[in-house]
Amino acid sequence: MTEEPQVPLTEQVRAAGCASKIPPGVLEEVLKSLPVQAHPDLLVGLEAADDAGVYRLTPELALIQTVDFFTPIVNDPYQFGAIAAANALSDIYAMGGRPLMAMNIVCFPLKTLSPDILKAVLRGGLDKVHESGALLVGGHSVEDPELKYGLAVTGLVHPERIFTKAGARVGDLLVLTKPLGTGIIATALKGHLASAEAEEVMIQVMSQLNRAAAEALEGLEVHAVTDITGFGLLGHGLEMALASRAELTIYTSRVPVLPWAREYAALGLLPAGSHANRRFCEKHLSISSQVSQIDVDLLSDAQTSGGLLIAIGPQDGERLLTRLKENGVTHAALIGEVTAAGTGKIKIIQ
Ligand code: CO
Ligand code: CO
Repeated sequence: MTEEPQVPLTEQVRAAGCASKIPPGVLEEVLKSLPVQAHPDLLVGLEAADDAGVYRLTPELALIQTVDFFTPIVNDPYQFGAIAAANALSDIYAMGGRPLMAMNIVCFPLKTLSPDILKAVLRGGLDKVHESGALLVGGHSVEDPELKYGLAVTGLVHPERIFTKAGARVGDLLVLTKPLGTGIIATALKGHLASAEAEEVMIQVMSQLNRAAAEALEGLEVHAVTDITGFGLLGHGLEMALASRAELTIYTSRVPVLPWAREYAALGLLPAGSHANRRFCEKHLSISSQVSQIDVDLLSDAQTSGGLLIAIGPQDGERLLTRLKENGVTHAALIGEVTAAGTGKIKIIQ
């Protein structure tokens, strides 16, 4: 671990806890009023917004672009950099691609934090970019009262092997590759209530690249993929359900959860974003009476650098789980199914 500033990084941010994202629904309304451009080679753009934009260069090659940055969710500057980079790279993996180049985006409070902190943040990001096999080629920094860091990432994908949110089919199995609860534990951490174990496992999970999970998909019958970030499993699952015009069924008892997340949720340590997520999804949910409020809180928990949610043909489900375990994606689990066609719904059962 790198040296930490005197006032913990997570307490220097004005905004609460994790990725202070604009609440779901708000941005859609704003974008609706703006003219979007269509182009025959624009395979994924704003019209059916996905994890990243995709542009076809040749019949065999398409370019992926994405950007993500946020305020510190952990106090160690090196780990913050690594997590922010893993999170930004994730949208490339969620589209089925491999990252090629990355650029830093930094807001840094030079008046209150030492340049050593900046160095540690950038070092954490750079190490993750290297681990992904991509190259860091530049960036942009501004002086700002609040530390923020992330990356703009360019990747490549075969145009016929793009994983959007829209392809889930009835009968598909749903696999989640990382445990939930990072928003809850980050909230506990801010309140000095998180155990050392909870913090350590959370950092390890958030800084893990989705690269190994994405590589396990090679050659399998994959129909839809997205990554679980600020809108939680319910929010991002609903995006998949709506885009695929399908009903997803999620079994709460099978959903992997970080150690201590359940205990902290029971204490009401929920990030503000999770309430917004829950409200946004409400009218598309049907929740069985056996499902507890804590389970619903975990499913709506706003994640940072969460795992991939994969809709895979039933014949390949077991193979995918075996490969994920072999690739070191140890928390991966089968959490549900695509149970019906429709307008986009999530059914939650025990
Ligand atoms: Co995403
Ligand atoms: Co994103």
